Amino acid sequence: MTLRPSVAVIGVGAMGQALVLGLLRAGWEPSDLSLCVRRPGRLEDLARLTAASVGLDPRAAVEGKEVVVISVKPRDIGPLLASLAGSINRDQLVLTFAAGVPTGVFESQLDGVPVVRAMPNTPALVGQAVTAMAAGLHTHPVHLEKARAVLGAVGDVQLLDESLLDAVTAVSGTGPAYVFLLAEALTEAAIREGLPRDVAETFVNQTVRGAGHLLTDTPLSPSELRAQVTSPGGTTAAAVHILEERGFRALVEDAVRAAAQRARELGAG
Ligand SMILES: NC(=O)c1ccc[n+]([C@@H]2O[C@H](COP(=O)([O-])OP(=O)(O)OC[C@H]3O[C@@H](n4cnc5c(N)ncnc54)[C@H](OP(=O)(O)O)[C@@H]3O)[C@@H](O)[C@H]2O)c1
Repeated sequence: MTLRPSVAVIGVGAMGQALVLGLLRAGWEPSDLSLCVRRPGRLEDLARLTAASVGLDPRAAVEGKEVVVISVKPRDIGPLLASLAGSINRDQLVLTFAAGVPTGVFESQLDGVPVVRAMPNTPALVGQAVTAMAAGLHTHPVHLEKARAVLGAVGDVQLLDESLLDAVTAVSGTGPAYVFLLAEALTEAAIREGLPRDVAETFVNQTVRGAGHLLTDTPLSPSELRAQVTSPGGTTAAAVHILEERGFRALVEDAVRAAAQRARELGAG
């Protein structure tokens, strides 16, 4: 039987909205959901888009819902938890998306309530997220199943130890931006080489999509796939030589380290 726990979503911005739309696509009924936003201006739009109940009061939104998804920015977690004091019970599950904020922060304010920390990414918008989830102190297998059901509505889910979540944040949480930056740079370079913008965009976007499929749909490693494109003395070899010589790998490593460090800072408040 398909597990479809009822869900409250507190904070319906980029990630919260992607989740809500994913849940509706996956078969959740609008009546299974309750949404909480901060700006009154969002109420009507979201109600129209989702047909779910939308309100401004987090305490009302969480009432009777099996899973409470917290999808506000890390800096908003403190005030939100203060306003939720006493309104979430141990039969409910808190599923937090906040980058860098440990389960312990939630557990210290929500007496005995099970907490799962998750790190999705924006391909959730098209059902192609990869999400890491980590168990908290009071989490049992039944809670992980519920979390997996909810997160599975927007893509793949893997259970990891919480100590790995900041690294995941820096790799897949932030990762789409690295790919988009590469796509932007490649498009501009294509235009400089004489391609019209629309042609450049089509060829870059489809190249990223096709390369992504090769990574996920074949057993070959990135370096094996790269070798397939690279003939000795050829065009790819000339391009890759420049990228390697100018420190592409070290740059990526530094960028990921900076993102992981920032995640740890956000968690420290
Ligand atoms: N975007 C990503 O790629 C990504 C990936 C993985 C994880 N995350 C995590 O997901 C969380 C949400 O990120 P996001 O990108 O979706 O941010 P976002 O677009 O800023 O959405 C957060 C929303 O929460 C609302 N909010 C803040 N406090 C609230 C409260 N007390 N009650 C109700 N709504 C409240 C904000 O309202 P206002 O509009 O009034 O500010 C905003 O609409 C963050 O913790 C982030 O670390 C994001």
